Amino acid sequence: MIKIKAINKISETTNLVLIIDSKTFKKSVYLTKEQTDAVKNAIKLEKKQILFNNGESHIFIILQSGPINWEAAEKLRKMGAKICGVAIENKIDSITIVANDNKSALSTAEGIALSSYQFLKYKSDKKKLTHSLSEITILSEKMDKKSIDNLNVVLQATFIARDLVNEPQSFLNALQLSEEFKKMGKDAGFNVEVWNEAKIEAQKMGGLLAVNKGSKIPPTFNIMEYKPKNAVNKKPYVLVGKGVVYDTGGLSLKPTPMSMDYMKCDMAGSAVVAGTLYAVAKAELPIHVVGLVPATDNWIGEDSYAPGDVITMYSGTTVEVLNTDAEGRLVLADALHYAKKLNPELVCDFATLTGAAVRAIGPYASAFLGTANDEIKQDVFDSSYEVFERLVEFPLWDEYADELKSEIADMTNLGKGEGGQISAAKFLQHFTDYPWMHFDIAGPAFNHVVDAYKPKGGTGVGVRLMFDFLSKKASK
Ligand code: BES
Ligand code: ZN
Ligand code: ZN
Repeated sequence: MIKIKAINKISETTNLVLIIDSKTFKKSVYLTKEQTDAVKNAIKLEKKQILFNNGESHIFIILQSGPINWEAAEKLRKMGAKICGVAIENKIDSITIVANDNKSALSTAEGIALSSYQFLKYKSDKKKLTHSLSEITILSEKMDKKSIDNLNVVLQATFIARDLVNEPQSFLNALQLSEEFKKMGKDAGFNVEVWNEAKIEAQKMGGLLAVNKGSKIPPTFNIMEYKPKNAVNKKPYVLVGKGVVYDTGGLSLKPTPMSMDYMKCDMAGSAVVAGTLYAVAKAELPIHVVGLVPATDNWIGEDSYAPGDVITMYSGTTVEVLNTDAEGRLVLADALHYAKKLNPELVCDFATLTGAAVRAIGPYASAFLGTANDEIKQDVFDSSYEVFERLVEFPLWDEYADELKSEIADMTNLGKGEGGQISAAKFLQHFTDYPWMHFDIAGPAFNHVVDAYKPKGGTGVGVRLMFDFLSKKASK
């Protein structure tokens, strides 16, 4: 895992990233006369980047002007992705960033680091495939240590979340997911309690049990808690994540091409929850956070639950299951009901919940819906710009709940089709009685092509967002 450090001296053979203000540039101690002229020329031509090859070392020039707002920060992350590519191609192991301000250095470092992710667990020739880049240093005398430490922590948590999503169900079944949470808890310092099947049955978590019926592997219900003595909050922030380790659709079977084949990603919500707890605990943020993950696969077996079945949820609500592929809402509903006991300040759930969210906005944003007040929503939107994990808000109109009316039970698990991300959220809302925000991450959780610093496969979307959001809550 790549490491970012602050330094106050550099050697002559260092590979450099120079972030230059194109409005004020005159010269730089790192550039020769010819290079300085080349930079001035590039500024005239309104270029955004130049690369000098000094033989032993490289100098990447980023030409930037104006304030480092969220748009400029995102451009720097994307520039970081390009730099990472060149660095790896040239077998560079260390890069030093020199900038006028810490924010632009940190954003560039973040982009380079996020692009350096590799998932090699199942490759035989790991050594040969592991790239060279292992260190990013930032030349700065007044870099605040906390900013660097927290960036390293959230990057590590994002990489763990990506790893979890990239793991196939042949390894990462519900039991193994709980083992991974326990390892994370031990490493970062948060508590992990795992309910086994007997406990889940005794508690009558009917949604989770119904989805698990066709499986050979028992479900788990995972409760993670980070409660530092100096917590600023009396009531916990609760994060809930969909932990469907694989979604075949059940008896309402998914077609394989472009549908079932990526469904190892259906536990990405749980990766956000565990990843965020990991980062919060490692950074020792003074904030009380609880994570809840109902985990199972949605398999087919002789005992599978079937369309038409009526199940009784943990809350006592009866649900007529009209489609076994709408399983995420069933397992989440039980966790959302459990959250009521915790007297939460706010509950945020993360789920690869609907194809409708993907059809609405593709991989570029999460669908967002919630009952939290406008101030909290504004805070999460601010964080979403800060880390560039965009959200698009959809309304929780009651018409979408009407679609869930059942002839024979309290409700069905299936909306009418259009706006499926909304009817799914209306289903979840039924099981909440607290300020709540729902993130349908079905689009951005798993990439089918590389997108700058977001790799193919698991992206870890949600972890940077929640860490930023909770960091700000912790410092209020
Ligand atoms: N896991 C899927 C949603 C999904 C789709 C995740 C694409 C990631 C990428 C979910 O369980 C599902 O199958 N939803 C159905 C619900 C429908 C039957 C109401 C859907 O969206 O098609
Ligand atoms: Zn499904
Ligand atoms: Zn699913």
